[in-house]
Amino acid sequence: MSSPTPSIQDPFKAWKFLVLPTLKVSDVFSLFLKATIAICTFVSISLVFYSFLNQSQWQPCPECHKSLISDHMKITNGNVSGDFYEKTNISHVLFGIGGSAKTWNKRRHYTELWWMPNITRGYVWLDQKPPENRTWPDTSPEYKVSADTSRFKYTCSYGSRSALRIARIVKESFELGEENVRWFVMGDDDTVFFIENLVMVLAKYDHNQMYYIGGNSESVEQDVIHSYTMAYGGGGFAISYPLAKELVRVLDGCIDRYASFYGSDQKIQGCMSEIGVPLTKELGFHQVDIRGDPYGLLAAHPLAPLVSLHHLDYVQSIFPKLNRIDSVKKLISSYKMDPGRVLQYSFCYDLTRNWSVSASWGYTIQIHPSLMPAKQLESAFRTFQTWRSWSNGPFTFNTRPMSQHPCLRPVVYFLDRVERVGDGTLTTYKRSVQEFGQVCDLPEYAPVLAVKLVNVTTSTSLKPDIWNLVSYFSLLAFLEKL
Ligand SMILES: *[C@@H]1O[C@H](CO)[C@@H](O)[C@H](O)[C@H]1NC(C)=O
Ligand SMILES: *[C@@H]1O[C@H](CO)[C@@H](O)[C@H](O)[C@H]1NC(C)=O
Ligand SMILES: *[C@@H]1O[C@H](CO)[C@@H](O)[C@H](O)[C@H]1NC(C)=O
Ligand SMILES: *[C@@H]1O[C@H](CO)[C@@H](O)[C@H](O)[C@H]1NC(C)=O
Ligand SMILES: *[C@@H]1O[C@H](CO)[C@@H](O)[C@H](O)[C@H]1NC(C)=O
Ligand SMILES: *[C@@H]1O[C@H](CO)[C@@H](O)[C@H](O)[C@H]1NC(C)=O
Repeated sequence: MSSPTPSIQDPFKAWKFLVLPTLKVSDVFSLFLKATIAICTFVSISLVFYSFLNQSQWQPCPECHKSLISDHMKITNGNVSGDFYEKTNISHVLFGIGGSAKTWNKRRHYTELWWMPNITRGYVWLDQKPPENRTWPDTSPEYKVSADTSRFKYTCSYGSRSALRIARIVKESFELGEENVRWFVMGDDDTVFFIENLVMVLAKYDHNQMYYIGGNSESVEQDVIHSYTMAYGGGGFAISYPLAKELVRVLDGCIDRYASFYGSDQKIQGCMSEIGVPLTKELGFHQVDIRGDPYGLLAAHPLAPLVSLHHLDYVQSIFPKLNRIDSVKKLISSYKMDPGRVLQYSFCYDLTRNWSVSASWGYTIQIHPSLMPAKQLESAFRTFQTWRSWSNGPFTFNTRPMSQHPCLRPVVYFLDRVERVGDGTLTTYKRSVQEFGQVCDLPEYAPVLAVKLVNVTTSTSLKPDIWNLVSYFSLLAFLEKL
C-alpha cells in the first residue's frame, strides 16, 4: 500500500469537514471514543484532489491565473474564425425530446424536473396528437407532432420503427428555422438534464465549428453491439449548428442506408461517420446503462460537470428511503446551490485517526477506518450490473466489488440538508443505517460509527472557469511534450 499523501492546499479553495460525533456511544468503546472524539469535535481536513490534477500543475494558479485566463480567451473568443461571439447561454440551445402521446403523462415528471418554461427552448416530439380532451400541461415543453416516416426502411428485427421518427427530430427541429440556435440538444423523455452544466460544457466549444458531443454506454457489451463512436441518445447529445445543417442534408439518406440499425442514436451516428465528424466525449453525459443500485457510479463520478442522467426508472432510487423522483429532487437541491460541484469526487486522509474520507459533493460521504490508496478510492464500487446481461462487468470505467461484509465496506452517509452560507454552502450528510445492511463490530469501526453527521462547507461555488483551467492544463501538458 502506498503511503498516503499528507494534506495539501485545496485548489478549489478550502473545503472543511466538520465531523460531528454523537454523544451516545457504546460502553465497550466509550473510553477510547472519549479520548478520540473530544479532540475531533472541530476538525478540518484539506482535501487531496485525485487524478491528473497533481500538485505541481496546480501550484502556479495564484500567480498566473490572470494571464492563463486571458490567453485562453484569446484562443476561444478571438477573431480566429472571423466572427466574435458572446458566451453561449441557455437561450442558444434548442432541445428536441423524443416522446409519445400515450406515455408523455407518465414520463413527463422527468422532463419537468429540469424544464424551465420561457427559459429553455425546444419541443417534445410526439407520434400523434395528444387526446383533445386533455389540456397540455404548461410545465411541459410545447409539443410538436413528428412527420410521417412510413416511407423509410427499418429492418432491425428486435427494435421499433419509432427510432426513425426520433432520429429525424434533429432535422425537424432545424427546419423550424428558429433564430440564434447554436446547439441542438437531443434527449429522451426520461433524460434529466442539468442545464447549467450542459451550458457550461457547450460554452467550451466553438459553435461555429462542427461538434457532436455526448457520451457512451457504461456497459461494454452495449458499446460493442451499438458502437463506441456513438453518443447514446438517452444520455443526451449536442450537435452544433453547422453540423446540424450538414446532417439535415444527408439524414434521410442515412436513415435508409442504416435501416438495420436498432436505435435513432445509431442512425444519427451512421450519418456522422459519413460526414466525418467524430464524437467528442464529455464525461458528464450519463446514459446509465446499468441495473441495480447506481450508488457506486454516482459516488465516484469523474472530475467533470454532471450533465445528464437517464434510465432512472430502471435503477434503484439514488437515495435510500426516497422514491425515484424525490431522490432526483434531492440531488437537484444540492445541484441548484452549486451546479458545477455536484457529484464532484474528492478524498482526503485524517492522519490523526487513520481514516480515508471520500466525498461525492451534494450526494454522499464514505469513511473508511483505514488508509486506502487513492487508486483504490477513485474506482467505483460495483453496486450495479451491466444493462443487457446483468453481469458484473465489464464497464467502461474501473470498478471494485462492494463486499457484503460490513467490515470490508466504508461507513456511508447520504445528503440530508443543504444551505447557503455566505458565498459558499454547508451540506450535511447523515449516516445511512439500513441501506447497507449490518454494521461492523470491529473496534476500528466504532469511532466512525459514532459519527452520525458529516458537515461539508465550501467557501465559494465551483465556477465554470475551473473547467476551462482543467482543459487549459491538459493543453499545457500537451504543449510541454512537444
Ligand atoms: C471580428 O471580425 C469582424 C470582421 O471580420 C469585425 O467586424 C469584428 O469587430 C471583429 N471582432 C473583434 C472582437 O475583433
Ligand atoms: C444570451 O446571450 C445573448 C447574446 O447572444 C443575449 O442577447 C441574451 O440576453 C443572453 N441570455 C441570457 C439568458 O443570458
Ligand atoms: C411564459 O410567457 C408567456 C407569455 O410570454 C406567459 O403568458 C406565461 O405565463 C409564461 N409562463 C411562465 C411559466 O412563466
Ligand atoms: C378523453 O376521451 C377519451 C375518449 O375519447 C376517454 O376515454 C378519456 O377518458 C377522456 N379523458 C378525459 C380526461 O376526459
Ligand atoms: C496510524 O497508522 C500508523 C502507521 O500505520 C501508525 O503508526 C499509527 O499508530 C496509526 N494511528 C492510529 C491513531 O491508529
Ligand atoms: C452541522 O450542520 C448542522 C446543520 O445542518 C448544524 O445544526 C450543526 O451544528 C453543524 N455541526 C457542526 C459541528 O458545525
